Amino acid sequence: MSTRLPYEKPTIVRHTVGLMNKFGRTSSTFPHGRIDGVPLRQLVDEHGSPLWVLSEAALRRKYRDVYRAFALRYPRVVIAYSYKTNYLSGVCAALHQEGAWAEVVSGMEYEFAQRLGVPGDRIVFNGPHKTQAELERAIDNNSKVNIDSYDEMYMIEEIAKSRKRQLEVGLRVNMELNYPPWDRFGFNVESGQAFEACKRIISSQSLRLNGLHVHVGTYISDVAVYQQMAERLSALCYRLQNELATRVAYLDVGGGHASKNTLHTAWMPAEHTCPTPDQYAEAICPALLRGPFDPKEMPLLILEPGRSVVDEAMFLVASVVAVKRLSSGVKGIVIDAGVNILPTAWWYRHDIVPGQDTGSIGEEVNIYGPLCMQIDVIRTGVTLPPLRRGDLVLIKNVGAYNFPQSMQFIQPRPAIVTIFNGKVDVLRERETVDYIRGLDRLPDRLKGGGKSPL
Ligand SMILES: Cc1ncc(COP(=O)(O)O)c(C=O)c1O
Repeated sequence: MSTRLPYEKPTIVRHTVGLMNKFGRTSSTFPHGRIDGVPLRQLVDEHGSPLWVLSEAALRRKYRDVYRAFALRYPRVVIAYSYKTNYLSGVCAALHQEGAWAEVVSGMEYEFAQRLGVPGDRIVFNGPHKTQAELERAIDNNSKVNIDSYDEMYMIEEIAKSRKRQLEVGLRVNMELNYPPWDRFGFNVESGQAFEACKRIISSQSLRLNGLHVHVGTYISDVAVYQQMAERLSALCYRLQNELATRVAYLDVGGGHASKNTLHTAWMPAEHTCPTPDQYAEAICPALLRGPFDPKEMPLLILEPGRSVVDEAMFLVASVVAVKRLSSGVKGIVIDAGVNILPTAWWYRHDIVPGQDTGSIGEEVNIYGPLCMQIDVIRTGVTLPPLRRGDLVLIKNVGAYNFPQSMQFIQPRPAIVTIFNGKVDVLRERETVDYIRGLDRLPDRLKGGGKSPL
């Protein structure tokens, strides 16, 4: 019996200069058929497509790299992992096993940390909206609360009065370091607001200034920003010591370190521009060590990385559902993963590679999701070899800000699995219609069809 080869209607496509060079084929045409040794096809057959996959070894390695870079250069370092970056239980639990504290920015995240058994004094509570009940819980658990506004400071003073004890607090400050400055969180240093707010705390009968917190922004690939931040933080501490006789117990310098994902606006691939943990540490630690601190009592250095720890540890495996020619002649590839589960596609030129070997002749294609919405674009102008319905693609570096910001828009959200030492475990089941509809309620008058009551 003769087997018929698949037929694709011929089209004339302009050659793209640079596809082949003396080093061979472009990296995006190389197949990437396994994650940590496990075939993508096996993962999809067992857990469905699309599928989020965590490389637990990569996650633990990234955490250790960041910790080691800072602990080498500074005597007392703690990493409080930024939950909002990816608060999947399995991700947080693995990082807590590595020694991470939790950095949370809402009551819900606070509860996530508690349910994973994180002791209260290892939770850093940040963010612009903390309710009175959430503040009370965090304070009673000895968590580190960083005040974002005078309204919050006042609320905590009232809690201190009701508890009849002085409460230790941290203060979030912001600085004019990059454009646009992240000045909506905390108190501004350059305008004098931060110093005034410190004075307000120090002069309060109910509060004690325990720490300072800065988070300069996210995806900051210029390490000079961190050096300036550390220098200005040291200068603020110098004033606090000299003018207000106050020494803080911790300096929380936030997160914001870049990952190897390339922003749409970037010229160079992030692989070549993303600073290493050592470069971030080298920007921050010496500037603090030159600061006005007693070497025997250096403040605890808290870091809150998210993206740099988790982004590169996760992959999204997706299947091709259709291949078509657009009116422009460009090939369009529709996959079963949309921007509802990959919102970072709006910021990044995600690294997308074929999940099997379909040849080395690349063509620039656009990749679309399944959402029946014009905005559902995963990548444009990515060079891929010929792909057919059913083939797999692998999208790299999807660990940061996708799962927590994803939603079930017309489709349930996929399962999430982790691979460790060749073993695959489910971290989250694929959602079902029952789960999605579970909170809906239908009043009797809307049940069973019938006529409009109007
Ligand atoms: C206060 C705070 N800390 C830490 C982070 C983590 O940032 P990133 O994921 O860029 O490291 C964020 C996120 O924006 C944040 O708001």
